[in-house]
Amino acid sequence: MLTNKTVVLGITGSIAAYKAAELASRLTKAGAAVETVMTEAAQRFITPLTLRFLTHRPVACDMWAPPENFSITHVSLAQAADVLVVAPATANIIAKMAHGLADDLLSSIVLATKAPVIVAPAMNCNMYENPITQGNLSCLKERGFIIVEPAVGHLACNDIGKGRLADVDDIVAAINTILGRTDDLLGRKVVITAGGTREMIDPVRFLGNRSSGKMGYALAEAARDRGADVTLISSAQLEPPQGISVTKVENAHQMLEEVKQAVRDADVLVMAAAVADFRPKLTSQNKIKKDAPELSMELERTPDILSEVEGDFLRIGFAAETENLLQNAKKKLADKRLDLIVANDVTTHGSGFGADTNKVTLISRDGEERDLPLTSKRAVADKVWDCVAEFPHKPTHPLTSFQD
Ligand code: CTP
Repeated sequence: MLTNKTVVLGITGSIAAYKAAELASRLTKAGAAVETVMTEAAQRFITPLTLRFLTHRPVACDMWAPPENFSITHVSLAQAADVLVVAPATANIIAKMAHGLADDLLSSIVLATKAPVIVAPAMNCNMYENPITQGNLSCLKERGFIIVEPAVGHLACNDIGKGRLADVDDIVAAINTILGRTDDLLGRKVVITAGGTREMIDPVRFLGNRSSGKMGYALAEAARDRGADVTLISSAQLEPPQGISVTKVENAHQMLEEVKQAVRDADVLVMAAAVADFRPKLTSQNKIKKDAPELSMELERTPDILSEVEGDFLRIGFAAETENLLQNAKKKLADKRLDLIVANDVTTHGSGFGADTNKVTLISRDGEERDLPLTSKRAVADKVWDCVAEFPHKPTHPLTSFQD
């Protein structure tokens, strides 16, 4: 439910503007106060009256209309917003937002608000793919705007390509994610590692593993949404999550160095990365040729990052196992002096490498176990942060219990 939440809905001049009516209706039925703002072009596609009836509220269209209650409309709406949603967003409003223009009511609200802004682009595919639009979208992403990507399909202009407004379901999901945010990790610095490391054999080959990094990225996004200051150290081949800067590393040694730096003032370290345990003793400068009938390689141990880094922070590890899950996980919890371990049976269908879901058991330092059902990596991430959020300060006590 979105009761007590104010959604400012900005509608711009795209043929998809009619879909904003459904969005407004869905949000209103979910209990949100929907304040609609329409650009002049939007009103050529759909009338303010439609939105007025669907939201049961006045619709703001004009920067210069005398304000109700003597408040300045663009400032009062900017302040009232728990979230500002621009759907559909044309190439024009995207460009204006990226460059800080404020020449109408909606663009002025975008500039004046401190609320999170969700942008759902809709336009002709060539306009969307144009490097200028893509540059503007990148700029918005870097500034923390949340982009709900358009879909690929048959467009109103008869072209087929990417540019169709995302499903209303996806836009509602993005709004729910934002409004579901709590601030229970506000002020905490969390360091998260993600992905499988790569240990180079020669310039073209490496020893690696099947980790995708999705679990670590889900942890980073969940921590961001709960107000944490997130440092993500990654060897994954994934797009950076919105609003989080990623330190890219390739191998275990580089990851160790970055983790050491990052944990200096951290409250929590979560090692979700699958770190290689061995690396080639020698890395060939040139590509190894297949001249010989066989090839053997000497390997040496890499540093165990969790065991090596010292400091006054909560230590959370993962145990990816194929057998004796709980027994192996508990041994790692003790050996690596962890506060919490996430035991992950990678042989379960839908769990582990590359999947969007995971089947895990959380084990705290005092031995309490919580077996979670197969669920999204994001939901697993939130369970981990629920445990962390119980600790108001840097821990002098280990994680001892779970909160329901
Ligand atoms: N880890 C680490 N440094 C390593 C290897 C692992 O910090 N060189 C961390 C992982 O990020 C994870 C935890 O230790 O949080 C357990 O990793 P896992 O690969 O399951 O176990 P290992 O300690 O490598 O032991 P084994 O491979 O024998 O199961």
